[in-house]
Amino acid sequence: MKRPLAMIVGTGHAVPKRILTNHDFAALGIDTNDEWITERTGIKQRYIAGDGESLTSLSSEAARAAMKAAGVTAPELDVIVLATASPDRLLPSTAVEVQATIGATRAAAFDIDAACTGWVYGVKIAEGLMAMGDAETVLVIGAETLSRIVNWKDRNTCVLFGDGAGATVLKRSTKGRGILSAYMRSDGSLADLLQRPAGGSLRPVTPEVIAEGSNCITMAGREVFKNAVRSMAEASDRALDGAKLASSDIDLMIPHQANIRIIEATAKHAGMPMEKVYVNVDRYGNTSAASIPIALDEALRAGRIKEGMTVMFVGFGAGFTWGSLVVRF
Ligand code: UT7
Repeated sequence: MKRPLAMIVGTGHAVPKRILTNHDFAALGIDTNDEWITERTGIKQRYIAGDGESLTSLSSEAARAAMKAAGVTAPELDVIVLATASPDRLLPSTAVEVQATIGATRAAAFDIDAACTGWVYGVKIAEGLMAMGDAETVLVIGAETLSRIVNWKDRNTCVLFGDGAGATVLKRSTKGRGILSAYMRSDGSLADLLQRPAGGSLRPVTPEVIAEGSNCITMAGREVFKNAVRSMAEASDRALDGAKLASSDIDLMIPHQANIRIIEATAKHAGMPMEKVYVNVDRYGNTSAASIPIALDEALRAGRIKEGMTVMFVGFGAGFTWGSLVVRF
């Protein structure tokens, strides 16, 4: 495949109305505090979906903004790829609900789950479909309503995650702009370190499952942290190798927003000064598959990315999965 073949031509994002700050946990009876959360993670607040808000509604709002920015109408979409680990329903996919909501009457639509790396995987899938000649215009969404699947009694996890959606429209590359390299990996031997043990078909929801909270996310934080640092370092190396670029050629790095300490370690390994690293984990928490496309949309709208700039994206998540992209805008 000859690159660049596909480019990102429009982005958008959406978040729920309600903000939950670190100080708000006390009122929820959770034994934590702003100092611990800020020091260990860099998170100050996150958005939490309320009544009437869903993965479909957030994704559709983000999709409409991305289509508007791209100058594309819903019937022009050939494919919708929605990356999520918190679908509205287990069957059918949330992607088909978005397809119906936005009126993408011609589009094939499906969900993928690569956890926090989902949007990176989705972009790679979109590029592949375009390379095969099967699609001209693809909507890739990363979206989560993790607040609905976290254990609100587990302070190890409930302070970390947030809800939101980021959407991107991809079309054929022009003028040498677009995806210069893409890298995807996984290691399922470490699946138990970050998981949702029950609620799937292996262990359906029962009163016992609910009582023990095993239909919610569980995480061995320290182990996940170490693997995130290692894998994101590898992913940034592979992204640069693939694009035949050095870190000095990268104008902005947009890493997955899980923890400021992981972001800083990734930046250090890649040789990127923090001024060239986009950070919004303080305002959103970890929005898993939504984190990179939300950050991308913010960076574009804030003028941090201008035509001709080269951006590196690096993701890591449950699975484990990890991956990276280098894109010229
Ligand atoms: O999206 C991709 C996947 N996710 C990640 O990349 C997250 C990776 N992991 C992390 O970001 C960090 O490991 C955490 C932020 C989850 C935890 O930070 P840590 O520095 O690794 O802390 P720890 O797990 O070693 O816990 C330290 C202490 C424990 O107390 P003891 O056992 O030392 O007395 C915890 O019980 O902090 C305690 N603790 C808390 N204290 C106040 C855990 N959660 C909280 C909390 N508030 N919310």
